Amino acid sequence: MKEEKDARAAGTYETIDRLFEEGTAGKEELKELIEGRNEAAAEYLFEKARIRQQEHFGKRIYLRGLIEFTNYCKNDCYYCGIRRGNRAAQRYRLTEDEILDCCRVGYDLGFRTFVLQGGEDPFFTTERLRRIVSSIKERWPDCALTLSVGERPYEDYLALRQAGADRYLLRHETADREHYRKLHPPEMSWEHRISCLRDLKQIGYQVGAGMMLQSPYQTTDHIVTDLEFLKELQPDMIGIGPFIPHKDTPFRDRTAGTAELTLFLIGILRLMLPQALIPATTALGTIDPRGREKGILAGANVIMPNLSPSGVRGKYLLYDGKICTGDEAAECHACLERRMKAIGYEIVVSRGDSPRAQAHRAPRSES
Ligand code: 5AD
Ligand code: FES
Repeated sequence: MKEEKDARAAGTYETIDRLFEEGTAGKEELKELIEGRNEAAAEYLFEKARIRQQEHFGKRIYLRGLIEFTNYCKNDCYYCGIRRGNRAAQRYRLTEDEILDCCRVGYDLGFRTFVLQGGEDPFFTTERLRRIVSSIKERWPDCALTLSVGERPYEDYLALRQAGADRYLLRHETADREHYRKLHPPEMSWEHRISCLRDLKQIGYQVGAGMMLQSPYQTTDHIVTDLEFLKELQPDMIGIGPFIPHKDTPFRDRTAGTAELTLFLIGILRLMLPQALIPATTALGTIDPRGREKGILAGANVIMPNLSPSGVRGKYLLYDGKICTGDEAAECHACLERRMKAIGYEIVVSRGDSPRAQAHRAPRSES
């Protein structure tokens, strides 16, 4: 028994070394690595992940200012607190002026990336979004603009890109078709989700994908499939966080994911995609009070503080217990600066393009 355990442990370190050297490992190895993990293996993994992180990004942390501009959503995902079926949610939409105010506050605090995130709200037609995107880019041309407004037709993605949007976040949620079906109502499809991601890449957005960890029905095989999917997709950003139940959803009684597994996966992803932007997410900070710091020390390099006006923050509740809903943007900014400094990292004022995206941008900026 002990011998078997030692052999497994040896395999674990070998797999971490292979991930470090080659950026990849076999299905079975990944599965064993995840299932056989323990504290010592995690420490070893995080050390390696920090080497890659610092090779590409130093000890610099990039900020993305999140503006949650609408919590209306036409979708009914079983896990999400702003699903249309949740009658208890207090709905809101920000006006264009309110959105621009958030950007101004953020700009003065040093943010150079704004993320417009919302539910799939038909009120925000592509035409309306185009206007907002152009106004932001006109006023703050030195900033990058990210959209996170769900699944839309190719032409709409194209029009928004032409209006000036640089990046798009659309988590794939799970790379397994059957698992996707268990998390979403029948009118949503995994195929459509994935085709949106491919469209976004093709149009030339810097793309962010990602998944929840330990969402209902998720197995280790699913997670391995996610890793392989991400390796193949090569997104510029990867957002992962623990599933956290929301009291007014069908998954209200499900168990939340752990910070421990999320951190382990951040470490693995840093080795598999060394140049990716990986946020230490709000969900991670919610499940563990030091989750964001631990995320950085496991290999993450981005933080996405909330710039939404304080009056609406408590309404954008995808899951229970979300942090920072009572704080002003300036408070979160100061808090994060302090937290990052305490672990030896610094927040930088920069658009923070991924090294991959910079390589693409370079020829244009020379002309
Ligand atoms: N727990 C954790 N993350 C969630 N998200 C949505 N609902 C939850 C939840 N209950 C995540 C999804 C979505 C992102 C915006 O938030 O992955 O893509
Ligand atoms: Fe919001 Fe600490 S980051 S209060």
